[in-house]
Amino acid sequence: MKKEKNNNEQMEKIVSFCKRKGFVFPACEIYGGFANAYSYGPYGVELKNNIKKLWWKKFVQEREDMVGMDGPILLNSRLWEASGHTEGFNDAMVDCKKCKKRFRADHVVKELTGKDMEGDLAGMTTVLQGGLKCPECGASDWTEARNMSQMFKTEMNGIDGPVYLRPETAGAIFSDYKNIIDSMRVKIPFGVAQIGKAFRNEIVARNFIFRTREFEQMEIEYFVDPEAEWESVFENWLTKQEEFAMELGAKKEDLQRYEHPKAKLSHYSRKTVDVEYNFPFGFSELFGLAHRGDFDLTSHANASGIKLDYLDAVNNRRFVPHVIEPTVGLDRLILTAICAAYNEEAVEDELRTVLKFPYKIAPIKIAIFPLLKNKPELVAKAKEVYDMLKSEYMCEFDDNGNIGKRYRRQDEIGTPFCLTIDFDTIEKDNTVTIRDRDTMQQERIKIVDLKTYFTEKLS
Ligand code: GAP
Repeated sequence: MKKEKNNNEQMEKIVSFCKRKGFVFPACEIYGGFANAYSYGPYGVELKNNIKKLWWKKFVQEREDMVGMDGPILLNSRLWEASGHTEGFNDAMVDCKKCKKRFRADHVVKELTGKDMEGDLAGMTTVLQGGLKCPECGASDWTEARNMSQMFKTEMNGIDGPVYLRPETAGAIFSDYKNIIDSMRVKIPFGVAQIGKAFRNEIVARNFIFRTREFEQMEIEYFVDPEAEWESVFENWLTKQEEFAMELGAKKEDLQRYEHPKAKLSHYSRKTVDVEYNFPFGFSELFGLAHRGDFDLTSHANASGIKLDYLDAVNNRRFVPHVIEPTVGLDRLILTAICAAYNEEAVEDELRTVLKFPYKIAPIKIAIFPLLKNKPELVAKAKEVYDMLKSEYMCEFDDNGNIGKRYRRQDEIGTPFCLTIDFDTIEKDNTVTIRDRDTMQQERIKIVDLKTYFTEKLS
């Protein structure tokens, strides 16, 4: 059970910063907003794409035991019956009868008593109705705790019965397991990775992009021999997940592991561990890692009537692989990267806000400035340099305001390098000033050497 608490001051600061600076906007704001949904703005989408690319590189491109895929959001409903989602993908809700506010029952019980009662509807009702006060209005007048499905239902032309927006991306990997085995030369152990949207009808969506009803997952199903030693594979995936968070800027001390108690594991699961990050609202789940045995492949084989096994040609053994599932929410990684990068520093009696993103994920890599906006020769040269660099790096051209203000603007969005074209550039030596985001030091570099300079710094 997580310690996800309500927003606090730091969180509010980050939410308004993200909106002001073009990272994350409340969706449909002109219509009064919509259900804790968010849009990624111009810098947010760059950050998001950079994190996706980095994840794909680390977990697919650089590994010989991994392949990728991209399945649909709307899938055959039989798949969700087989996986148990149609029946059992529920959260417990409870309402305060006085103020009509709805809560996730296990969360409000945990918040008020410290007890983890997830899954125990009757127990939660007893505790709540035994005198707990509504955190919103202070009344003690609760409904019973009852289950609510997290599945989003829709309809499709020509299909009888409901169709669901996928509640996780994993389902498509299991339903395409046979196609992957048949079309690729994969050998156990191997994994399949996928990035895509998932939808959950959360009772309470909160804490900014941490918990939303539409979000993006990056999931892997890693298939292993059921007779092989799995503990070291599991440990290795845990380490890789932590490493990835640190590549995005998370500090080691802001990560912790939470192992789900054996008594709370599903019957098929051998072990589940979350990697939690120390968000401003407390340590909360970032990654999940679960050993799911052969539950998924066996359930889908039984429901579809299609064998989903694996032939070990060397030992002539046929078996249903076990699966280890590393999973993470992309939006939570984005929030982690922003929280980890956010810094306020006193510089010359002023407060400098700077996002110290690792260079790899910074939305803009290089900002290019002409020293003065009203000197056409400076502007033309700056445009020339911008045109030279923009095919390689995400660059921004800015000629607005004094240089100090332009530096601060780029610091705020985490741009590692600012490059200024001045009179020395055009009258003397064809050099430009490069200013480093973190040290604020400046150096002069020849324009002809810029490509090499940035290859070294940014590759
Ligand atoms: N296939 C396994 C699975 O979906 P999960 O723990 O329910 O497991 C995986 O979800 C990850 O998706 C979580 O670790 C979390 O990072 C992210 N996630 C889950 N619900 C979310 C939500 N409502 N909003 C944003 N991210 C969410």
